[in-house]
Amino acid sequence: MTAPASQTASNQFNERATELRQLLTRAAHAYYVLDAPEMEDAVYDRLYRELLDLEAAHPELVIADSPTQRVGGTPSEGFTSVAHRIPLFSLDNAFSAEELRSWYARLLKVLDREPAADAPPPALPMVGELKIDGNALALSYENGLLVRGTTRGDGEQGEEITANVRTIASIPLRLQIDPPPAWVEVRGEALIPDRTFAAINADRAARDEPLFANPRNACAGTLRQLDPRVVASRRLDFFAYTLHLPNDWEGSRPTSQWECLSWLKTAGFRVNPNASLLPDLAAVESFFNAWDSRRHDLDYATDGVVVKLDDLRLQDSAGFTQKAPRWAIALKYPAEEAPSRLLRLTCQVGRTGVITPVAEFEPVALAGTSVSRATLHNADRLTELDLHSGDTIVVRKAGEIIPEVLRVLPELRPEGAQPLDLPHQCPSCESELVRESGEAATRCVNSSCPAILRGALRHWVSKGALDVEGMGGKLIEQLVERGLVRSISDLYRLDVALLSSLERMGEKSAENLVTAMETSRAQPWARQLYALGIHHVGEVNAKALAAAFPDVDTLAQTAVDHPEAISELHGIGLEITQSLQQWFSTGANQTLVQQLREVGLSLAASEQERLDLASRTSMSGALSGQTVVITGTLPSMSRSQAKDLIEAAGGKVSGSVSKKTSFVLAGEEAGSKLEKANKLGIKVIDEAGLSTLIASDEI
Ligand code: IVH
Repeated sequence: MTAPASQTASNQFNERATELRQLLTRAAHAYYVLDAPEMEDAVYDRLYRELLDLEAAHPELVIADSPTQRVGGTPSEGFTSVAHRIPLFSLDNAFSAEELRSWYARLLKVLDREPAADAPPPALPMVGELKIDGNALALSYENGLLVRGTTRGDGEQGEEITANVRTIASIPLRLQIDPPPAWVEVRGEALIPDRTFAAINADRAARDEPLFANPRNACAGTLRQLDPRVVASRRLDFFAYTLHLPNDWEGSRPTSQWECLSWLKTAGFRVNPNASLLPDLAAVESFFNAWDSRRHDLDYATDGVVVKLDDLRLQDSAGFTQKAPRWAIALKYPAEEAPSRLLRLTCQVGRTGVITPVAEFEPVALAGTSVSRATLHNADRLTELDLHSGDTIVVRKAGEIIPEVLRVLPELRPEGAQPLDLPHQCPSCESELVRESGEAATRCVNSSCPAILRGALRHWVSKGALDVEGMGGKLIEQLVERGLVRSISDLYRLDVALLSSLERMGEKSAENLVTAMETSRAQPWARQLYALGIHHVGEVNAKALAAAFPDVDTLAQTAVDHPEAISELHGIGLEITQSLQQWFSTGANQTLVQQLREVGLSLAASEQERLDLASRTSMSGALSGQTVVITGTLPSMSRSQAKDLIEAAGGKVSGSVSKKTSFVLAGEEAGSKLEKANKLGIKVIDEAGLSTLIASDEI
């Protein structure tokens, strides 16, 4: 009997969908887990699109572990707390070889293997792993499928963040074990690699958003994001290190931690490649010492090594204390942190009105400098820390990282100490502060707040904006304080007589300043737009917007009436569009635009800029048809900025080097991609080279 034609067709679609899923899952595993790409990006993209199209036409073919189902489209309302099937224990710490030895002696004692009087302690094989400074996650699989991802929480209960966990490309949606156990619990560490972290913060800086203090905080914040699309964009990674299987599982069962790690690898997880099987305590010590310097070459933070007894049966007999396994210990590297006493909590008001709480404390020496202030980033962090007046706090500063308040020592809290909170009023203008739901930032929304005005003026004259030489922070402060400048446009009304009456201002410098202000009127439209200081409109976005909208009226009108026309622009997301819409709908900003016009600012592209633009759009971009791979840290721009530039010039950016790569843009510490480019004889250029290539296209 033959199947009806429609059924045969639907079988074909089903088979193709299965095949596409396998190909894509395998390619993503090679790329994200094994670090060994096997498929070119263009091929991956084509197959991915084919699967998307097929699933759109036949929704019944969509299954939970399809690679198209990693990023859910709708933000969740909040997270629910769930109990862990098996609690997540923490680890006891050892801070010296001494403490390591006493841990080992205690372990031998519980295992009943103490050496005779002067005999050396018996050697038990142990696994040495890096202690990754990220955020622990518990993953639950049922019949091979990822069904739940949870934060550690208090170890007994965590928050269910499955939609976010699904976006982590190195976490398999389905185990590569056939047949799979009825359930599997996997634990490991989610993290943001340093380089990704730098790009995230560079991007946030360009958008005038508060920076994350370190990759671990950025990771924790990301995991608790309500919108999985944001999580996906942060490109988290995950190393698996703990495996729990049902007691009655009949498949091949690991008998040691070392075998657990290889089981996890086989099942499709990324396992940290730097684990070692160590025969005895001396080997543990060398492992620890060797990684003390090597860990700085890694692209993620580690704060020690974790030593685990290898034999699972011995682990079982050693058991647990209240909170930690007896069979494992975290051997920590000395941290760049120290206690200090909080003197006061102050606030900074940024130029967009964002309020940043700042802790001021007794100076401490950290990472080679004296530190007495640290930002707390936002009100959430303040609540989390539960800071009280006079608290003893632990402050950390690692390398280049901004000093941060790590935690509070409540046991040292003076009696009667009051809890500290953000003020309800702006410290500068005393107007009521506002915190929008879903936003971490608290803001002053009074557009004539002196602190905001000072910030706006500083931004207006800054290098990337109108670049007015001689207009420094001190001068701006005086001008605002004396009421001589109440809006940006007032800067253009300053004359030599008035300026030279100010402190530390001679006639010559006053003249120069007036000239500098005059010349600044002729700065390109993109700079003028950036100078307005619209939330999210950094230099890169301002360029893209200025290229698409030749003057402020067109931009304002589109932002208010047809915002969709803005979000269709390449690289301009919904957030930016909304921010523009809001900005141009605000009366005070409309007044500002009007005032700027009155003092001679065009807020539009000049004739020459328009001509350049026209020739640029009629020509295809300087990089049209070229595929570029970016690797390493670039001296002055983030990778996403470089990507924007390349795409604006008509090029395409790809993640892996192949014969089809036109050239590689390499910065410092470029790794395997650079090697591969050299091997394939592909042209390599640096940031300056890129600028030259697209210079003819610059506005
Ligand atoms: S094993 C019962 N292994 O360190 C086993 N933990 O201070 C407990 N961590 O909550 C965990 N790297 O978040 C283990 N290789 C590693 C680890 C690791 C980082 C974290 C984990 C844990 C914390 C305890």
